[in-house]
Amino acid sequence: METVQRVVVLPQEPIGQVSPYLHGHFAEHLGDLIYPGIYVGEQADIPHTNGLRNAVIEALRPLQIPVLRWPGGCFADGYHWRDGIGPRERRPLRLNPNWGMAEEPNSFGTHEFIAFCRAIGAEPYFAGNLGSGTPAELRDWVEYCNFAGRSALADERRANGAEEPFHVRFWGIGNENWGCGGNMSPEEYAGLYSRFRTFVHNYSGTRVEAIACGPNGNDWQWTRRFFEHMARHHTHCRLNSLQGFAAHYYCGSAGTATDYTESQWLELLTKAAAIEGIITGHRRIMDEYDPKRACKLIVDEWGTWHPVEPGKPESGLYQQNTIRDACVAALTLDTFHNHADKVFMANLAQLVNVLQALLLVEGDRCIQTPTYHVFRLYQPHQGAQAVRFLSQAEVISHGEASEEQCRSCSVDRQPFALQAVHGSASMRNGTLCVTVVNTHPTQPVELDLELYQGKLTEVEKVTLAAQDMHAHNTFAHPNTVQLAPPQTLKARDQRLRVQLPAGSITRLMGQLG
Ligand code: AHR
Repeated sequence: METVQRVVVLPQEPIGQVSPYLHGHFAEHLGDLIYPGIYVGEQADIPHTNGLRNAVIEALRPLQIPVLRWPGGCFADGYHWRDGIGPRERRPLRLNPNWGMAEEPNSFGTHEFIAFCRAIGAEPYFAGNLGSGTPAELRDWVEYCNFAGRSALADERRANGAEEPFHVRFWGIGNENWGCGGNMSPEEYAGLYSRFRTFVHNYSGTRVEAIACGPNGNDWQWTRRFFEHMARHHTHCRLNSLQGFAAHYYCGSAGTATDYTESQWLELLTKAAAIEGIITGHRRIMDEYDPKRACKLIVDEWGTWHPVEPGKPESGLYQQNTIRDACVAALTLDTFHNHADKVFMANLAQLVNVLQALLLVEGDRCIQTPTYHVFRLYQPHQGAQAVRFLSQAEVISHGEASEEQCRSCSVDRQPFALQAVHGSASMRNGTLCVTVVNTHPTQPVELDLELYQGKLTEVEKVTLAAQDMHAHNTFAHPNTVQLAPPQTLKARDQRLRVQLPAGSITRLMGQLG
């Protein structure tokens, strides 16, 4: 591989606003995420606020998480919201059939979730139950949450301690209804979507953004047949009642979470880079039916999915998180920014202790993963204007997924590529923010960044890097992978040369002259 790799940034070529919701997250009742990750209970010795773990709240607050999706996942289509309200001692004990028949005490329900969202500053996104619930149940949940006036449901919310409505805007109408959410065809689902959607009302100034279940990875047929059916049979609904369409894409694994070769590193990042085709492919189909883009494309589950950590229950989906996962997160966020005109929201799976987590907790300890630091580093992009970023870096891995990979990460057999440098750029109030990933696990790169129009004189550089491509944080060594202190670089007008360590992520920020 060449040591010098070139990228060009075009600050005068806007793409669209980086919707802050692109930096969203997801928390499901699964494994150790809710209990004891977020909710330890009011009697716990672990420091908490009304049962919510303080260390998790404190770690998440600085990330300014824009949106948090809950309660699933597959869990959502078996969840009955009434189980999770009222006095805790009267809440029923249920089973969680999707995730190892674990006991579900329902101690963490609607009010606790809202309290958690408020504590971390995130907007709630509820995934409603279409698979095993009824339209009436969903209608009541929305009214319970959002109605400010007098009604039996709003009064019940008040009796449960919330005088003011929760103003929940984002409502998913089912989850993965092609699979765990009911094994439906797109036509069956579109019919049910229309039916359920009819009963989801706007109350007291909160306009609902209803989000339909989208495809699994590159399942183009799901998208085409769903929109075709909506266009033919449900025009009344399609026109004003479909605000979002949510795809899921997991890039899967290669090796295990912490044990992989150089070529497995490249394989995983290549599969992660394939998310670009998922976005452009589905948006292209949606555009045929919705050229004005009234219905927003959402990626409401994404991330790595490694074999479960040895010694942990299979159904808990607990995995470690290395600098490789951080590179996956960074290049995925960069892809979202580069398609800011096409994708509105994206939620990483999942928040604590499950899949590509931001935080791992054990007992009273809580550590930040390398992926956590990426979200910190990328924060300045939130809400800024995405501008064109062209990587002219060489292609270092061609991914034609094998049959097995196709099944596990649902990418197409079509070729897709990993470049030595991926990145994105955005502008806010004259400040340019560029983020770049050196995607090679062992070879450093000298980045040759050219600005097309405009110049930089001083640039602040912050890097997330590690000595070893398997580096990760543990409870014994929680800071092995962390952000380096900022450095100031001098730029020569339209050119900047920056050293990018192997397998690293760098943010460059400066005032554009
Ligand atoms: O994130 C774990 C699971 O992955 C979710 O419950 C489901 O929606 C997806 O298959």
